[in-house]
This record gives sequence, C-alpha cells and structure tokens, in this order.
Amino acid sequence: MTGAHLVVDAVRYQPGPLLLDDVSVTFPAGQVTAVAGPSGSGKTTLLSVAGGLIAPTAGTVTYDGAPTWRGNGDPRPEIAFVLQVYGLVPILSARENVAIALRARGVGWVDANDRAEAALARFDIADLGDRQVEELSGGQMQRVAVARALVVEAPVLLADEPTSELDQSNADVVLDVLRREADRGAVVVIATHDPAIVDAADDHVTIDEGRLG
Ligand SMILES: Nc1ncnc2c1ncn2[C@@H]1O[C@H](COP(=O)(O)OP(=O)(O)O)[C@@H](O)[C@H]1O
Ligand SMILES: [Mg+2]
Repeated sequence: MTGAHLVVDAVRYQPGPLLLDDVSVTFPAGQVTAVAGPSGSGKTTLLSVAGGLIAPTAGTVTYDGAPTWRGNGDPRPEIAFVLQVYGLVPILSARENVAIALRARGVGWVDANDRAEAALARFDIADLGDRQVEELSGGQMQRVAVARALVVEAPVLLADEPTSELDQSNADVVLDVLRREADRGAVVVIATHDPAIVDAADDHVTIDEGRLG
C-alpha cells in the first residue's frame, strides 16, 4: 500500500476559547508520528479535528485530497480511532465491540467475528471475547479499543494515549502493532505525554496551549 498523507493546514479551532491556534502539520504515510504535550495542551482536540470528528473553525484537514470533515462528525471509513475514553459499547461483549467496526464497513457476521477473535488474540485477551466490556478492567478495555481500531486495517490510525492504562509489556505490544501498521503504509498518529513513546516514534511534534512548538 502506498498511502496518502494526512495534511492539517492552518487549522484554528475556537468553539469559545482558542483551543487550536494556526496548526499546520503533515502526518506522513508509513510513519509513526507522536503528538506530545502535557495534559490540557490540545492533543485530543487536534486528533478529533484531524480525524473529522469536529469541524475546524478555520483551515482544512485533508486526506488523499478530500476533507476529513464530512459535515456531520461521522469519520471517513479510511480513518480509525483509538479514543481516549475507549468509545466501547459497555453492554456488548469484547468480541462484539471489535466486530462492530467490521460490520460497519460491510463485513459479514461470521467473518467479522473470526477477525475480531484474531484481533483480541493479538493483544492476549482472546479469553475475554465473551465478557461484557463493562466488566473489564481499564487496561483490558484499552486493549479491546486498540483491537477494534486495528481490525479494520484502515490507512489512517489516530490513537489517543493508547497505552495510558497498560503495563510495560502490554504497552510494548501495542506500540509494536502500531509500528507494523505504519510499516504496511498507514498514517499512524499517537497522542501521548509519555517520553518513551515519543522516543519510539519515527518523528514527533509538540503541542502546548493549542500551538505546535
Ligand atoms: N469544547 C470545548 N470547549 C471548551 N474547552 C474545551 C473543549 N474541549 C476541550 N477543551 C479544553 O481545551 C484544552 C485542551 O484539551 P484536550 O485537547 O483534551 O487536551 P489534551 O488531550 O492534550 O489533554 C483543555 O483546557 C480542555 O479543558
Ligand atoms: Mg487528551
């Protein structure tokens, strides 16, 4: 896959307070880019605008020549998220939560369930497939959320602090998997305040008070 870049151009986001101030950055295909900054600096806001969940007040975000904002907050199918609050459906099982992402993209039930099971196994939680997500620990939920983002093999992966609840060995697994997604040509962006993740990334940008440093 020769992927396109995700291009953030002169983005301002000002729902009231100025949260993103003239942000321009290109997230290249085939690379892991960290967005580093302290809590409250605007990392989640930047990923949300970049991925088309919220509209920029000014400026544009484009992927493969088309805006990521589609007018309604529904992300394009090319873009997969690991959301900071996990975005899982609490009453569904871990496997169903992963399978949903595939079914939303037209994959049939049986195939979706098989692929969901394999994705859970990659993160060593295959045995939790039948458990309701609301019964899981924070770290287990986080791995379900990562599995769901990975299973669709999207060309753009936006991960918001995807290892914040994980111990070192599980964090290493997640980083390794994200690295392999970049190796197959995906745009991979990881928001983080962890210097170890910044070091592990190919490149990084820093954000503070809504401005890139
Ligand atoms: N819709 C909003 N209206 C006003 N302030 C917001 C809104 N969303 C986020 N914020 C504020 O914007 C700042 C950046 O938040 P966020 O992007 O979540 O930072 P980070 O992910 O780096 O911790 C914080 O001060 C937060 O409280
Ligand atoms: Mg955040």
